[in-house]
Amino acid sequence: MTGTAISENADSTADSATCRGGLAGCGVSGPAQPDRNAPIGVFDSGVGGLTVVREIIRQLPNEEIIYFGDTARVPYGNKSQETVTRFSEQIVRFLRTFRVKTIVVACNTASAYAMEALERDIDVPIIGVVKPGAKAAAETTRNGRIGVIATEATIGSQIYAKYIQELNRDVTIYGKACPLFVPLVEEGLLEDPVTDEIARRYLAELIDIDIDTLILGCTHYPLIRSTLGRIMGEGVTLVNPAYETTRELHGMLAGLNLLRRESPGLGSNRYQFYVSDKAEKFVRFANSIIKYGILSAKTINIEDY
Ligand code: DGL
Repeated sequence: MTGTAISENADSTADSATCRGGLAGCGVSGPAQPDRNAPIGVFDSGVGGLTVVREIIRQLPNEEIIYFGDTARVPYGNKSQETVTRFSEQIVRFLRTFRVKTIVVACNTASAYAMEALERDIDVPIIGVVKPGAKAAAETTRNGRIGVIATEATIGSQIYAKYIQELNRDVTIYGKACPLFVPLVEEGLLEDPVTDEIARRYLAELIDIDIDTLILGCTHYPLIRSTLGRIMGEGVTLVNPAYETTRELHGMLAGLNLLRRESPGLGSNRYQFYVSDKAEKFVRFANSIIKYGILSAKTINIEDY
């Protein structure tokens, strides 16, 4: 990332915990205090949420993760709110079968469209990627001009603008849908002249209006952040919601006394991956971005949940 500031370089302590879903005041009310040794459930529309898994592995190395990628129904970014909400509710029901202690909605589109519905009837804490990204951007900007790049759905929902303006009314937010980035990343064209050219076209108008902060509002975009940083130039700070969400998650679990204290023993199935289609392809992609040695992913029928 040539010369461009990245939000994860920020040297500050974990954000105060946010707590949702029937856990009033972050003291757990509801059926039972979750077990601190239970896994964290993470989901996305496909492979992109692995950028969040990667952050959790880095920042919370003791934790176990159950990941679900909806590879049969991806992309979510061009679907309706109703559909994305229905898919997200099914996935949450699936993750709950593992008695997860918390759920991370790693997908920006699902966070934009389904958070309210998910929060309504769940009794474990749930966190999406949009609020932490919005908060970091609101704190980062100096000139009050923030750009958001994301799927059509996330940009159309104006959810980043809503949360940023709740924190700072004097900020102007410029959204730009960049639908070609997802297939480019999934084709492995992370450093490629084609990606460069498309990024230049997408970002030109954000450069023209002199933003100083750019939210990478889609799971895949952190994987091309060197390209994005190079094109935006030195004066623009890139905010990575995957990183910010994991910091928030850390603070939330600490506040609830739910951080796992020791690493799971040898031989434990620390990271488990489930998908709705094409498990082998998922594993190949996962191993290209997470240096952990992911051996397998299991295909399940998400329509059963
Ligand atoms: N995971 C989605 C997001 O972060 C991008 C891929 C999709 O459209 O499903 O918005």
